Amino acid sequence: MARLVRARYAPEQAAQTWRAMTEAHPIPPKLGLGTFRMTGAACQQAVESALALGYRHIDTGQMYGNETEIGAAIAASGIPRSEIFLTGKVCHALATPEAARISLGESLTRLRTEYLDLCLLHWPRAGLDIPGILEMLIRAQESGKARRIGVANFPLRLLRMAVEEIGAPIFCNQVEYHVLLDQTSILTYLRAHDMMLVAHVPLAQGRLAEHPGLKAIADRHGSTPAQVALKWLLDQDGVAAIPKAGRTVSQRENLAAFDVTLDDADRAVIASLPKDQRFVNPPFAPQWD
Ligand SMILES: NC(=O)c1ccc[n+]([C@@H]2O[C@H](COP(=O)([O-])OP(=O)(O)OC[C@H]3O[C@@H](n4cnc5c(N)ncnc54)[C@H](OP(=O)(O)O)[C@@H]3O)[C@@H](O)[C@H]2O)c1
Repeated sequence: MARLVRARYAPEQAAQTWRAMTEAHPIPPKLGLGTFRMTGAACQQAVESALALGYRHIDTGQMYGNETEIGAAIAASGIPRSEIFLTGKVCHALATPEAARISLGESLTRLRTEYLDLCLLHWPRAGLDIPGILEMLIRAQESGKARRIGVANFPLRLLRMAVEEIGAPIFCNQVEYHVLLDQTSILTYLRAHDMMLVAHVPLAQGRLAEHPGLKAIADRHGSTPAQVALKWLLDQDGVAAIPKAGRTVSQRENLAAFDVTLDDADRAVIASLPKDQRFVNPPFAPQWD
């Protein structure tokens, strides 16, 4: 299977495909809404609230069990589908590429859409046919079911394999990234290949909203620790962030992170924080580089 994909997409051809896709469709808004652990009516209400506030980038995944509610929220918003950047993820628990292909179709039905703007492989779990799933995603892109394809939680060595050995036209790697976790090597690689880093868990699962070091910075700017944490990410080239916020007040606060201006002294304080705090590390996670 890896040979099949390689024959189809040599690295330079993959890069050309990526550039063509990027020119055809604008890049995602840098701030999106994460939806993990949002389900049922509360999820629909939260997504409707976010869309009404101006969010146009929504992140979901088959594992989250909320695609039906997100589809309903988008439909209820009245916002044209073309104005919303919708990311979905095929579940790593699916046994085969064919099972993943079928499940992607079911996701589109639940989301009430013909296509995802970005479709990711959720986790590179051990034993998964990664070349086969990437081949399936490439086919989904070619058939218009996914405008872009990418990966999530890929450490550098697996990202290199996907890009350099398989030759998949990867748009982004969605990984845990925040002020307490260094991702320099992955970010450097992604930038060198014109790919994005989408930062999941950008608030360290809410912990950063109470962080004393960020609070000291926030107090100087009349802002909040969450806004400081988000602006540090949003200021970085090629980085988008998808904080989950169920409450409208948090959604509004996070959007206003764009109004915060961090200076060199702030960045020096943030640089001095520990950078080895990883909070998303399930049993099926790969070995991190
Ligand atoms: N690809 C992957 O494997 C993967 C893994 C994890 C997460 N993700 C994605 O990344 C998204 C974000 O990650 P996450 O939800 O785990 O963590 P997170 O975004 O770092 O933190 C979410 C928590 O922060 C709170 N919060 C948000 N804005 C706040 C604010 N301004 N002030 C105070 N508290 C605030 C939220 O509370 P309220 O909701 O009550 O407002 C929630 O409890 C997920 O929803 C998902 O879409 C992807």
